[in-house]
Amino acid sequence: FTPKVLAGKRILITAGPTFEAIDPVRGITNRSSGKMGYAIAQAAQEAGAQVTLISGPVALPTPRNVQRLDVQSAQQMLDAALTQSTTADIFIATAAVADWRPAQIAEHKIKKAEGESTPQLNFVENPDILASIARSTTAQSGRLYCVGFAAESDNLVEFASAKRKRKGIPLLVGNIGPNTFGQDDNILTIFDDSGHVELPRASKRELAKQLLQEIAKRLPKN
Ligand code: C5P
Repeated sequence: FTPKVLAGKRILITAGPTFEAIDPVRGITNRSSGKMGYAIAQAAQEAGAQVTLISGPVALPTPRNVQRLDVQSAQQMLDAALTQSTTADIFIATAAVADWRPAQIAEHKIKKAEGESTPQLNFVENPDILASIARSTTAQSGRLYCVGFAAESDNLVEFASAKRKRKGIPLLVGNIGPNTFGQDDNILTIFDDSGHVELPRASKRELAKQLLQEIAKRLPKN
């Protein structure tokens, strides 16, 4: 039994890694499995919400009754998130967005040629999707509640609190990473204006439910 704590709410979630192309056959990505974001999408749907999941490339089935939009790059994820966020009540950013992308995408496959030097890659910074959405008029007007994630290897409390403020969001969920990547369970710490609270080790599915209850409690009343 899942209480319908999110009945009538529209939730937008980003999940998985992004894939930044180098040429038509190669690219750069990371080890995010998408499991946490997909677990939240499923739990939100079960809690009565209308869910849109913007997903990077993952090997996971689409949760039942969830609208899934597949993207590859951070720029595509940002475009989809900006469009979808105007009608959402809650935005949850779980995606492991690549911090940088190759400055140019080669039009043809880069060939290995005898005696030639190895190719050099130059990078440019990707947009911060969460910070962009948090700055949008929908969020600034109080109509959209933004939630971010942070994977830290140490000093979780200090780094996550600072990150929440830097991104301009009311709620940030910290976990000790990157050892959570691909795992079925996790430990979450929730940071808001009044401090932090830990959700002890449990399956990502169970933690998703608890997190959504914590979010529901904090939503502005209307
Ligand atoms: O700054 P950092 O990558 O640690 O922030 C993590 C949080 O910000 C996550 O919620 C992630 O989904 C989001 N993020 C984003 N776009 C980026 C980088 C991070 O939405 N380019």
